[in-house]
Formats: sequence, structure tokens, C-alpha cells
Amino acid sequence: MPFTANRQFKAQPRFLVAADGMYYTSDDGRQILDGTSGLWCVNAGHSRREIAAAVADQITQLDFAPAFQMGHPAAFEFANRLTQLLPNDLHHVFFTNSGSEAVDTALKIAIAYHRIRGEAARQRLIGRERAYHGVNFGGVAVGGIGANRKFFGNLLTGVDHLPHTHNLEKNAFSQGQPQWGRHFADELERIIALHDASTIAAVIVEPVAGATGVLIPPVGYLQRLREICNKYGILLIFDEVITGFGRLGEPFAANYFGVVPDLITVAKGITNATVPMGAVFVRQGIYDAFVQGTQQGIEFFHGYTYSGHPVSCAAGMATLDIYLKEGLLSRVQKLATYWQGAVHSLRGLPYIIDIRNLGLLAAIELEPIPNKPGDRGFETFLRCYELGALVRAAGDNIALSPPLIIEKQQIDQLFDTLAKALKLLE
Ligand SMILES: Cc1ncc(COP(=O)(O)O)c(C=O)c1O
Repeated sequence: MPFTANRQFKAQPRFLVAADGMYYTSDDGRQILDGTSGLWCVNAGHSRREIAAAVADQITQLDFAPAFQMGHPAAFEFANRLTQLLPNDLHHVFFTNSGSEAVDTALKIAIAYHRIRGEAARQRLIGRERAYHGVNFGGVAVGGIGANRKFFGNLLTGVDHLPHTHNLEKNAFSQGQPQWGRHFADELERIIALHDASTIAAVIVEPVAGATGVLIPPVGYLQRLREICNKYGILLIFDEVITGFGRLGEPFAANYFGVVPDLITVAKGITNATVPMGAVFVRQGIYDAFVQGTQQGIEFFHGYTYSGHPVSCAAGMATLDIYLKEGLLSRVQKLATYWQGAVHSLRGLPYIIDIRNLGLLAAIELEPIPNKPGDRGFETFLRCYELGALVRAAGDNIALSPPLIIEKQQIDQLFDTLAKALKLLE
């Protein structure tokens, strides 16, 4: 099982058998409030009939079309509709099947872009500590989670990492973006001095790091990264697999922070998680460099059998229709203050050492049990599940990212359940 304690699961299985709107149904017939949008992905809520109908229609109309040297209209239509949501000239899309594939695709685009322009020495990739960029070799290499890296050898060579920005001493219990910590971006100058800009292709960051416990960027931090990348001709990649599609109250974090990266990776919410799909958005200049920089034939030697799969595109367009019709890409603007008040109301309960939030994201950090990191977080997750709410344990952080359709009374239900669970902890 993926990222699962198999022995623990088999001793105490947890099965979900149905889902609708904000709730899962467990195999013992209980309603479980979804505090995590499944796995940060079911942004429009569960089992949306419109998406199911679009998928069924597509399968009977055109089930599959080869993606190499052939096209089909839905992929172009979906690409054109998506790019209208993006800031500036992020006008081109490469479709993948997951966030991990989107990340590895983006890293390959970055390296190939420099080579096509005659800067073939720019091969280094800069990630960040505590980053999660999926599980393929490139994503793990630029990722910053020790446990995900140490079993798998040397990964990619020529990778370096920025420090993460999480600091409990300075920023515990910040509401929204912390004021302190912009200077962490200046570490990029140090890394550039070490390797020389002429060897560096790209910097990749999650605008808000999700999987390691919702780490919120300090005020000015992302802007500073953008400035430094501009200064040295380094591409900036935002991994928006979690922050994309309305999580912060704007279509993308790039819109929210007012920072335009050169590439954006997405997945998850692109199809409301009904059908696997991911994508990479690139700025006009990158697309042009490939098309103009190649004499003839194929410009980018990369692709998946299922790139732009017709069924994924149909699911994605039906999802986009829902997002636009129901105003879900901006709905969080109306909920964020209530959400912030609700999550910070837990302050003072047992073991809580930090609470942080942005948009419709939050994390509650618990003091680890000595010599047993992660156990308290996992125990909280289990207690919540027993009490009827799905939350995500990221080590000793309880991460929350409910569907964007959540109502205020469901926010109350989520935090009441969490409070009960925390009070039950040993
Ligand atoms: C920021 C980020 N990038 C990439 C991924 C990987 O996506 P997938 O699991 O679809 O491969 C994730 C998954 O959680 C993610 O949060």
C-alpha cells in the first residue's frame, strides 16, 4: 500500500466505500467528514454527477486517441480553457497523469530549454528542504524529505536545496503569512555563489509546502526568490499540485501571491481527482524556445501514452465548469477568516505547539512523543477517524484542506471533532 503502515492497516483496516459532497461513508456505515479533500484533491466535493456524465459520454464518443503524432479536440480545448485562468503568459500546457509526472516533466523542460538556447551547462536543479514533489526520481531528488530519499540511492546528481522556512521560535501561531523569514530566500544567493549561475537550470518550490505540514511562505519570500531567479536567468517552477484550483481563493497560488513563475505543475484538483491527470504550464518564451530552436521534427522528446487522455480532458472540463459555475476558485476568500478563527480556537488544547493557516489550508503541530516522532500525529488521525472526520497526519502535524464547498457548520464540526480527539490523547 502506498505510504501506509501495512502491518498496522491489516491489524486495524479502514475502508471507505462511498462518498458524496463533504462526506465519506465507511464500511461500517458511518459518515466521515472529509477534512482533507481526499488527498488534497477533491476540491469540488465528492461524486459530482456532472463529471461522471462527462466521463461516460467521452468513453462512448472517443475512448482513446494516440497522443504521439496525433491529436484530438478535447485536449486542445481543455488546454485553451485552462490557460485562461493563469497569470501573464503561462499560455502553454503539457499534460501528464499525476503530480509526480508533472514535476519530472517540468524539470526536463527546464534543462532542455537551456540546452536548446545554447546554455547546456545549466543542468543543476535547486529544491528545498521539507519539499514534496512526488515520488519519481526527479521529484524525490529535488524533494526534501529524508525518509523518501534515503532508500533510493543517489537520485539525480547536481541537486542542491534551499532551507525550509518553518520556524517555531519566531513564527508559532502566525495567522496567515508569517512576517519573519523573507531572508530565507537569500540563501539562493549563497547556493548560486557556490555552483555559479551558469550551471543552474531551475529552482522548484511549492508556494505553500503541503505534504510536510502546511508550511506557509513568509511575507516577501516568494517575491524575493523571483527577483533572484530573474537576476541570474534561472527558471522558477511553482509546484501547485496542492495550491492550484482555488485552495487559496484564487485559481493558483501564483495569482494569490502576485508572483509569476516560469513553469507551474498541477494535478489533483484538475479533474477533481475523478480521473488521474496532471499538467505543466509554461510561459510563452519557453514554448517558443523549443519550437524555434529545433530545425525539424519533434521538438521535445518526452510524453506519456496517456498525455491528454480524452477521458481525463472530459473530466477536467466538467470539473472546470463546476468551478466556474459555483465560483469555487474564489470561494475561499469568503471562508478564510472564519476558517482562520476556527483553527486558532484550538490553541491551548493538549500538546499543540503551533497552529498555522492560509486560504483553506491549515496545520496543527503537536509536540512529538520523545523518541517516537509521528506517533502522536498518527494517533490523532485514528481518533478523528473513529469520531467521524478524516484529517491527514504529516508526522506530528495534522494537516487540513477540506473541499472548497465546505459550509461553516461543517468547519465547526471538523474542529469540534479534532478538539475531542486531542482531548483523548494520552
Ligand atoms: C506539491 C506536490 N507535488 C507533487 C505531488 C505528487 O502528486 P501525485 O501523487 O499525483 O504523483 C504531490 C502530491 O501530494 C504534491 O503535494
